Amino acid sequence: MLFVLLALEVSFAAAGPCTGACPKLSDGLYCPVNDVTEHADVNRDVKLIKELLSAGDYAAAKDVYTSGNFSSKGLGEMRTLQDLAQKDMTSGGKYTNVFYSGALALYGSINAVWHDPIIACLDNASFCAGKSDDFRQYIINKGLIGVVTAYVTYEMGAAVWKAEQGQLEDTNAAYAWDEAAAFYVGNIAAVIGDGYTGSAPGNLYSPYEFNWKRDSDFPDGISTHTEAIPLLNFGLMNVRGSYNAPNVQAAQLAMYKILSIAAIRSAIKYGWKAYGDGSFQEKYLAEGWAYWRSASGYISTVNRTAVEQVDAIFDLSQTSFTADAACKVKNLVESMYADLGITCAMVGKWKDAPTGGCLDSVCQDAVNMSLPDGSTTYADTCEAKEISNAPSASSFALLLVAAAGMVALG
Ligand SMILES: *[C@@H]1O[C@H](CO)[C@@H](O)[C@H](O)[C@H]1NC(C)=O
Ligand SMILES: *[C@@H]1O[C@H](CO)[C@@H](O)[C@H](O)[C@H]1NC(C)=O
Ligand SMILES: *[C@@H]1O[C@H](CO)[C@@H](O)[C@H](O)[C@H]1NC(C)=O
Ligand SMILES: *[C@@H]1O[C@H](CO)[C@@H](O)[C@H](O)[C@H]1NC(C)=O
Repeated sequence: MLFVLLALEVSFAAAGPCTGACPKLSDGLYCPVNDVTEHADVNRDVKLIKELLSAGDYAAAKDVYTSGNFSSKGLGEMRTLQDLAQKDMTSGGKYTNVFYSGALALYGSINAVWHDPIIACLDNASFCAGKSDDFRQYIINKGLIGVVTAYVTYEMGAAVWKAEQGQLEDTNAAYAWDEAAAFYVGNIAAVIGDGYTGSAPGNLYSPYEFNWKRDSDFPDGISTHTEAIPLLNFGLMNVRGSYNAPNVQAAQLAMYKILSIAAIRSAIKYGWKAYGDGSFQEKYLAEGWAYWRSASGYISTVNRTAVEQVDAIFDLSQTSFTADAACKVKNLVESMYADLGITCAMVGKWKDAPTGGCLDSVCQDAVNMSLPDGSTTYADTCEAKEISNAPSASSFALLLVAAAGMVALG
């Protein structure tokens, strides 16, 4: 019996090649060529932390952040959001990741980007001491979306490096790229809809769903979350077996643009909501701060001064927010579109922009532009089956460790 269980543990917990058909992600389209269930499961930790915080249990939430819960690395070791937040995303200078190096240059250290603010709000300390639950929880919950977003870029950078080394087997560059997709999309089954079209289901807790919510907020702009899926697939196709560097770079850059658009739309929306028609909304300052920061480091690579000015407007010590400040955010982000390779039309207009106000007008583009189409020819390593919400391997693996322990003690 134990041998059967141990054999199962290996096949479940060891990520990499799939045993049988590869499980899909929440979108139901991208087909990984590896089993990246455990990687995608980190988004379940984001969800669990949100639920624990809603119940007022900051200590349990901190435990999930520091020790992990859903996402196993195999052999009893957990993947944690804290590890993700503190990751050297160049892997000692090996990988190129301008998304990460931009954030590092802007905020001074890796911990300063996410880890320190998240811990402060978990602990009711530092700038977060005595703040409202809403404020604390927006910093933590939305900050964690930013942590996972950054990790998506880390995995893309890893895939590029591996492909450059000629590591083109499915278990190498393609595996890193699959992990990028897994962290981005997650694997929780959508409570409503098909995980791709219609309204954001609200239960995915992944960067993909964050992007999706902003797509709904800016309905005449591009649909970043649906465009991301064929782009991620295009990247995978171009590191798998043979390497087409320009195509992979194009996919990676397009993902950077998608993540930038989501951050920019958030800054526009939450700046206005923080102003609150003259009644300052501290929680929206926190939400705007966190979502803007999900790509501000990258955006600062085109104009650091402008990004620092937006950062100053979203400074978490602010106790007021004027309409002028909200309008200035829009002007500052718009000033960077051309250098980011995005357009006013791609960003679109916030659906709740007050008529006649500064957010009601959309800037004019000098050129028309769109993201590359990507590819909808998905790999054939997945079953056509629906994704399910079955418990993932980690809980099962723990059971096995317990069983093995009992036998050893016996
Ligand atoms: C996951 O979190 C829940 C809720 O806090 C807890 O009951 C459970 O023991 C945790 N499991 C692991 C594996 O950490
Ligand atoms: C947070 O810390 C402040 C002091 O800095 C204290 O007044 C407040 O009661 C604390 N809140 C909670 C929920 O512990
Ligand atoms: C960067 O932004 C600042 C503030 O808006 C602006 O004054 C400056 O001209 C911009 N620099 C470039 C190179 O566009
Ligand atoms: C962009 O495309 C729109 C719609 O096709 C067109 O009306 C507009 O003139 C174009 N703008 C530029 C700058 O080419």
